[in-house]
Formats: sequence, structure tokens, C-alpha cells
Amino acid sequence: MRQIDGHTRLCGLIGNPVEHTISPVIHNTLAEREGRNMVYVPFHVEKGQLRKAIEGAFALNALGLNVTVPYKSEAIGCLAGVDEIAEKIGAVNTLVRTEKGYKGYNTDATGLYRAMRSEGISVEGEEILILGAGGAARAAAFLCVSKGAGRVYMMNRTEEKARKVAKEVNDAFGRESVVPMRLEDYGALPAGRRYLAIQATSVGLYPDADAAVMEDRAFYERIHTGFDLIYRPSCTRFMKLVRDAGGKAYHGLKMLLYQGVEAYELWNGTSVSEEDVIIVYDKMKEAMGIEE
Ligand code: ATR
Repeated sequence: MRQIDGHTRLCGLIGNPVEHTISPVIHNTLAEREGRNMVYVPFHVEKGQLRKAIEGAFALNALGLNVTVPYKSEAIGCLAGVDEIAEKIGAVNTLVRTEKGYKGYNTDATGLYRAMRSEGISVEGEEILILGAGGAARAAAFLCVSKGAGRVYMMNRTEEKARKVAKEVNDAFGRESVVPMRLEDYGALPAGRRYLAIQATSVGLYPDADAAVMEDRAFYERIHTGFDLIYRPSCTRFMKLVRDAGGKAYHGLKMLLYQGVEAYELWNGTSVSEEDVIIVYDKMKEAMGIEE
């Protein structure tokens, strides 16, 4: 543990619950590696206390905050500014200190992008399937369109929800990039090509590890790469089904890694070295008991 002194800067996580977070491993490891006098602490914030928590942190001269469930949207109302893509997504997970208050960013989205890039997965010009239409799927859709994806098919159990999110994204960018559809209608996808699929539903999340949002092999034969946002378990049923049908598959732990790395970079005005990123990733896997 580094020595805490009169110059130590505070960063933290606000959410409810926060007790199982892995984020302190990310930030305290980076601070230690870089010899930065900063500590990162989780704060459990009770319902109704969000504004006080953010204003209190600012008054205490805290350098930055991460925001997690259930406050990612509500926090926007407590900020001095919001980054453009975070504003479109309607959710922030990183607050960066400015003179007047905190400015909000969404490094979940950019973290997903960096995680995919680090695996050699490109988004630009790609035809993409997003499974789900909840908060995570919404952020993924905004990211894909903002990075110049080709067509994005938003496939959800409830078509109405996919339609609503698709319209929001298309309206925000002024083009018809996102096409909503029901999961079971995958046979209507343009034939003769394979897709990048981002699994953004909550299906398959521990302890419900035997489930996938779709079982049909014919569906998985349409996928060249599957990226599951879930990282617990580290091999989801979705990933297994993608691999069994001949595609490559990845879990979401690198997204968690890069959302943290990017938050750390924003707070400290630095660029984390690839060597340190790998060290942090190994520590995360160790803390979570993940071997691959
Ligand atoms: P998050 O914020 O993690 O994205 P969410 O907003 O609750 O969570 O969204 C959950 C997503 O998982 C939704 O797309 C949901 O589909 P519906 O819109 O039809 O509810 C999807 N989902 C959850 N359980 C599901 C299940 N058993 N089968 C299919 N989709 C499911």
C-alpha cells in the first residue's frame, strides 16, 4: 500500500451496491505502477443521496468519480457538463473534475471499443448484430454508429423496445443505421455474409450460466465474431455456441478493463502504457479467479 499523505488525491466509485466491484484493483494498481499519489475507494450511496454525494465529493476536492448502477442516468442532472457521446447515450460512468463541477463521460462505450480493437475486431464499415435493447445494448448501438459501422441490427425478444431504441439512435445521428428486429426473425438478415455480434442482454450472467438468448445453430452460423458483454462466467453459453459454429468469441472483461483505464486517463491527463494495461488485466483476472 502506498503512503497516504497530505497530497493524496481521491477518486472513487458511487453506486448501490458497490461491494463486489473490481474497479479498485484497476485504479490502485495503475496509481502504484505510475507512482501517482492517488487512491480509489468505493462509496455505497443510498437512494435519494446522489446529488449530495456528487456535490460532497466536489467539495472534498475529489479528483474524479466512477458511477455505476443505478445512477448512470440520474447523475447527468448533477453535472457541470456532459461529453457529446455520453449525452447521446444518456448515461455517464465517469465524472471528471472541472472548475465548476464534474463533467460526465461514458467510458463503458469507449471501453467496449478499445476492448474490441485490442482483439483485432473492427467496427468501422462492419455489419453488426446487437442482441438486446436494454441500457447496455443502447450504449453499444450509439458506439457502433458513432464509429461508422455499416448496418446495425438490434435484435431483441421484445421488438417494441428495439424499435424505440433504434429510432433514438437513428434520430441522434440523422441516418437510418439501426434496424430493429425480433431475435427469432434472424432468417430475415441479408444472406451471404457473416456478422460481428455483440451480446448485450443479461441472459447467461452468473449464476444463470447455462442460458443463452438464442439456441439455434443456424443463427450462430451467421456470426464470425461474438463479443459478450458478460464476463462472469468467463465462457458464457453464447460464446460456446459461437465457437461451436466456427466463430471467434470473447467475454466482456476487457471492456471492464478499458472503461477503467480510460477513466484513469481522463482523471490524470495521461496515457496508460500497454505494458501497464496487461499488468492490470492480469490482476483483475487473479482477483476474479479467471484463468484465461
Ligand atoms: P442492461 O441495463 O444490463 O442492458 P436491461 O436494461 O434490463 O439491462 O436489459 C436487459 C436486456 O436483456 C433486454 O434486452 C431484455 O429483453 P426484453 O427487452 O425483451 O426484456 C433482455 N433479456 C433479459 N432476459 C431475457 C430473456 N430471458 N430472454 C430474452 N431476452 C432477455
